Amino acid sequence: MKVTVVGAGAVGASCAEYIAIKDFAAEVVILDIKEGYAEGKAMDLMQTASLNGFDTKVVGSTNDYSKTAGSDVCVITSGIPRKPGMTREELIGINAGIVKTVSSNLIEHSPNTIIIVVSNPMDTMTYLVHKTTSLPKNRIIGMGGALDSARFKFRLAEALGCPISDVDGMVIGGHSDKGMVPMTAKAVRNGVPVSEFLSPERLEQVSADTKVGGATLTGLLGTSAWYAPGAAVSELVKAIALDSKKMFPCSSLLEGEFGLNDLCIGVPVILGKNGIEKIVEIDLSDAEKAKMIESAEGVKKTNGLLEL
Ligand code: 2OP
Repeated sequence: MKVTVVGAGAVGASCAEYIAIKDFAAEVVILDIKEGYAEGKAMDLMQTASLNGFDTKVVGSTNDYSKTAGSDVCVITSGIPRKPGMTREELIGINAGIVKTVSSNLIEHSPNTIIIVVSNPMDTMTYLVHKTTSLPKNRIIGMGGALDSARFKFRLAEALGCPISDVDGMVIGGHSDKGMVPMTAKAVRNGVPVSEFLSPERLEQVSADTKVGGATLTGLLGTSAWYAPGAAVSELVKAIALDSKKMFPCSSLLEGEFGLNDLCIGVPVILGKNGIEKIVEIDLSDAEKAKMIESAEGVKKTNGLLEL
């Protein structure tokens, strides 16, 4: 398994680090336009190999796409991150141009790759890759739901006063402050609905805190978060590398599933060696359906800003 990560900023470097540490890939190539930056990050990471016990080879390059040739998975993190007070949608002008160029360069050198889009606004950037490349739809995946679900589990465990490993739950919908749909009614603590332990008001608070998970961190850090985004990407790449058929919410092109069409939005999918092996059409309650429709409207509005 060869993985390319484009963008050696905090998110890209964190992706590369977690992928290397989990030790399932033979090689990770980090690419950045800033002279020497990716080389530096790669060398620093390689010098942790004997300490952290991994054999993954990490290579850095200043924008030389020939180094990425034959990548099984390419992760696009490039673009500008949001600053405090900004929405992900406000990044579209600059990031659309970057994502379009990067995806075309990647595919030129790895025509059969699977692309994971992280750059924001992520659902729209994922849709852009569908619209501007000829990759089949199962090979274009947007990373948002896996991260939002991890934040949801963190908030659930906080409310329950229990270890995070006790809880499970999923966030579907758009990867935006307003568009996320944390599925509180389906969340469980060791198989027991969390509604048995938490009041509707507390669950509403968990949901609200989850939705502004990224914005809260941007306010604290002055820029976008990186540990959880990097870890979430590494789990998606691992599921593809190991052909594990694990289920994650990922931004996927919908063609009628969940009653939605012609957009990319977070829905449960099975990940394996072919990327998105299946979109899992779970039953949604009326309330969840209504939230999904509203979320899809928001994503479509942002898609409308693309110059296709
Ligand atoms: C976040 O939510 C990077 O969009 C990402 O932190």
